[in-house]
Amino acid sequence: MNAPAASREELVAEIRAVIARAGGKITFARFMELALYHPQLGYYRSGAKRVGKDGDFFTSVSVGPLFGKILARFFQKLRAEFDGDDFAVWEFGGRGGELRADVLGAAPDLKYHVIEVGEPLPETMNGCIFSNELLDALPVHRVRVAGGEWREVCVKISEQSFAEELGPLSDARLLGHLRALPREQMEGYRTEINLRALEWLEQIAARLRRGWVLTFDYGFEHADYLAPHRRDGHLQCYFRHTRNADPFQRVGEQDITAHVDFTELVEHGRALGLEPVRFVEQGRFLLDEGADVIREIVERDAGKMSQERSAVQQLIHPTHMGHAFRALLQRKLAERV
Ligand SMILES: C[S@@+](CC[C@H](N)C(=O)[O-])C[C@H]1O[C@@H](n2cnc3c(N)ncnc32)[C@H](O)[C@@H]1O
Repeated sequence: MNAPAASREELVAEIRAVIARAGGKITFARFMELALYHPQLGYYRSGAKRVGKDGDFFTSVSVGPLFGKILARFFQKLRAEFDGDDFAVWEFGGRGGELRADVLGAAPDLKYHVIEVGEPLPETMNGCIFSNELLDALPVHRVRVAGGEWREVCVKISEQSFAEELGPLSDARLLGHLRALPREQMEGYRTEINLRALEWLEQIAARLRRGWVLTFDYGFEHADYLAPHRRDGHLQCYFRHTRNADPFQRVGEQDITAHVDFTELVEHGRALGLEPVRFVEQGRFLLDEGADVIREIVERDAGKMSQERSAVQQLIHPTHMGHAFRALLQRKLAERV
């Protein structure tokens, strides 16, 4: 079920009011935050189905229980390595607990918590903080080169709905992320910067006492993320399994997402005491951790496209999720006493 037109109009009216109160424009990040996370009307807050066949996009979780089955084994492995008996999995962005059910189906004795947007963070966490496609759903700042300078993409009210307007950079951190780029030759180049992902990392690093952070998402390393041929950036919108590049249509009814810059996560994590221990393509990770489960399915279902056989293909094959998605494992360094 998608948001009825009345609530879409209500959300557009609310965002227009926010823009008017702000003096005529807001950053794109603020717009994206309201479109996705307005407490009652936002895309992810209105209670409508978003992920899976009846939603707007598939994730590794919605493909079936195989992802959770392989992760369950990996979490058990981490638990065996963990010093202490308070190991738990803390999944951020776990929606209605679909992945939790798959993981616990395979490993019922794991402790597993789901934390969704708007819920308070635990004071302390031990074990493994996990997310799948959380960071690509966080509001991003958009920047563009105009007149040889970096400018921030802002949002103003237009007759139809909303339109872009450039403004000065709203946050000094943005320039730090762009310093290495030769803006003189890049007139019109645009990209996204996910400061919220770094803030999320700060929040969890401060609360994780002992253990790991395991992040699955689609994205690139920094140099690739900002490559000159990606001059239109990474923002994408999804509505009923169709992609478009216009965040101002179907506000509150379509997903807005951007690829993740994994180098930023690695470097920022290092500064926060999170040591990167593994960074691989999703396909590689799942083959390494679930080789025997996968072999069993492939041999058992040879010649027929069963649900599980098709899940193997979706999750691992490079033309599906196997290559574009990455897994990053970071380990919290012991605190000095
Ligand atoms: C693209 S969906 C992915 C859902 C699920 N993990 C999956 O793989 O099917 C992103 C989810 O992250 C949640 N989210 C966004 N910001 C969050 C935050 N700060 N803390 C926890 N969850 C958050 C959204 O509400 C949404 O459910």
